[in-house]
Amino acid sequence: MTAKEIRQKYFEFFKNRGHAIIPAAALVCESDPTTLFTSSGMQPLVPYLLGESHPLGKRLVDSQPCLRLEDIDEVGDNRHTTFFEMLGNWSLGDYFKAEQLPWIYEFLTQELGLSKDRLWVSVFSAEGGPASGGEGDKNANVPWDEESFAIWKKIGIPENRILFYGPKKNWWSRSGPPDKMPVGEIGGPDSEIFFEFIDIHHDSKYGLNCHPNCDCGRFMEIGNSVFIEYMKKDNGALEELPLKNVDFGGGLERLVAAVNNNPDIFKIDLLWPLVEIIQSLSKKDYHSDKNTSRAMRIMADHFRAAVMIAREGIQASNKTQGYILRRLLRRAMLFARRLNLTESSYLKPLVRMVCKIYVDIFPDLKDKETEISAAFQQEADCFDKALKNGLREIEKVEKLDGKTAFYIYESFGFPLEMILEIVKERGQEFNLEEFEEEQKKHQDLSRQAAEGMFKGGLADQSHEVVKLHTATHLLHQALREVLGEGVKQEGSNITAERLRFDFSHSQKMTLEELKNVEDLVNEKIGENLEVSFVVMDKDQALKSGVRAFFKEKYADKVKVYNIGPSMGSGSPFSREICGGPHISKTSELGRFKIIKEEAVAKGIRRIRASLENS
Ligand code: ALA
Repeated sequence: MTAKEIRQKYFEFFKNRGHAIIPAAALVCESDPTTLFTSSGMQPLVPYLLGESHPLGKRLVDSQPCLRLEDIDEVGDNRHTTFFEMLGNWSLGDYFKAEQLPWIYEFLTQELGLSKDRLWVSVFSAEGGPASGGEGDKNANVPWDEESFAIWKKIGIPENRILFYGPKKNWWSRSGPPDKMPVGEIGGPDSEIFFEFIDIHHDSKYGLNCHPNCDCGRFMEIGNSVFIEYMKKDNGALEELPLKNVDFGGGLERLVAAVNNNPDIFKIDLLWPLVEIIQSLSKKDYHSDKNTSRAMRIMADHFRAAVMIAREGIQASNKTQGYILRRLLRRAMLFARRLNLTESSYLKPLVRMVCKIYVDIFPDLKDKETEISAAFQQEADCFDKALKNGLREIEKVEKLDGKTAFYIYESFGFPLEMILEIVKERGQEFNLEEFEEEQKKHQDLSRQAAEGMFKGGLADQSHEVVKLHTATHLLHQALREVLGEGVKQEGSNITAERLRFDFSHSQKMTLEELKNVEDLVNEKIGENLEVSFVVMDKDQALKSGVRAFFKEKYADKVKVYNIGPSMGSGSPFSREICGGPHISKTSELGRFKIIKEEAVAKGIRRIRASLENS
């Protein structure tokens, strides 16, 4: 079965069970400042899991492109990738465990034909709890998942293939187990499904006995049903959400591997054509040894991910998403060098193949292929220069200590692998521990910065964030009234402290224009306008002139938020397609203040603004 067939079967299966197929969100997170990339299917749906109504109803299904950088060091084995597609289905306070578990079991065994004898499942219990469940997580005050256990037994999974794990393994939230969840974060116990590849023999390097969560490769997790029913509160306790939600995620690539009964996910139709190109150009055999297959897998994975990021308009740089793109490309290029490949030989063919594989779900790749190849070539030239500069720097150093090595690694993007080789060639010793210590210090700083980002994020849907979101709609319309209809939204990013709004406009705004915009927004706040929404057909909404964010893919039915009289009863000040949530009356906003106006790119301006209590 191909990936395309499996994706389609999944959509059909859940459509037949009352689910609406929703378009996937962008890979590059625009509206969520807490994270650079979408890393799970539920991420764009957080407002709806919290109770905001979705225009397409309470049962949703999609396939969401995701990127998980935390797995980058694992890429090279048989089952980890940075980019992947997550098949997802959701119940927004509608059905629950009694429907979800039998459905997903039916999908895997009947639709995909997986043998029931190869499936194992896990259920939430106490950390290190008894093998029969029996206890929950006392710290978090969550009981063990007796219901899922009973459902799996009823379905016919033998008791010895139902495993119990505590919150470290069988709890899901974007930030991990309950004690790691920040205030406002949602999550819940989950039940995972594993496929057993019986031809793989357990490697005792990974422990005495094999089990579904063992890393030896015999077991592969192919699906996870999360029961999102809790939110972390200020006092550190978990509180039940008004809705009991289901959030299922299954890695498409892994499902294809399980259906093919081949534990190497690089053998599936979405990745193998890339490996074939690398084999033929390098004249090396993927199966010859571990180092060769590892290098080829890293190249295939990183280039696929890089094309997906570049497709969304990101260019390699030293900041945020651009930095990740740079890191993926450079790492892939380094492994290509190990296979004695030059950039000019493989860049174009690999980009072309990724585009060919994905053009059915991302038709814009057809037009973007040439542009992406050219951008990657430019990055390859930059990397070449970085390597030369790094080498020059290393030559100046007589003896390399860990600190200096880290400086060269960090400042020039010079790979550690090459530093190690040079030191070896010189017959010198190298203090790797010192290097790692420096690296850890650096990572801790980045983590702190990221945590800082998280606190103020949209993820918690705090009142401040929701208010600034409503203010963004007012600002958008005010800009159009003051500067003209040429103004279009180019991006938006909100934290609890400020809003940031990017829009098309060819010149710097004058002080008078800024004042007029600020005054108009405050005037509308003063009028205490009502904020309401209606659900409309997308085409009808667009035809009637409702503002839309052109970068977004909308479903056939959309929510249109109005500020001012609701539709049909007068003309609202602002009308935008938007998922929400919003506050209900503009007087809740306080005083609107523009902090800064600046250029971000040619023809694109950025405004930062905040709200003050009036
Ligand atoms: N949100 C769950 C996950 O990402 C399904 O694993």
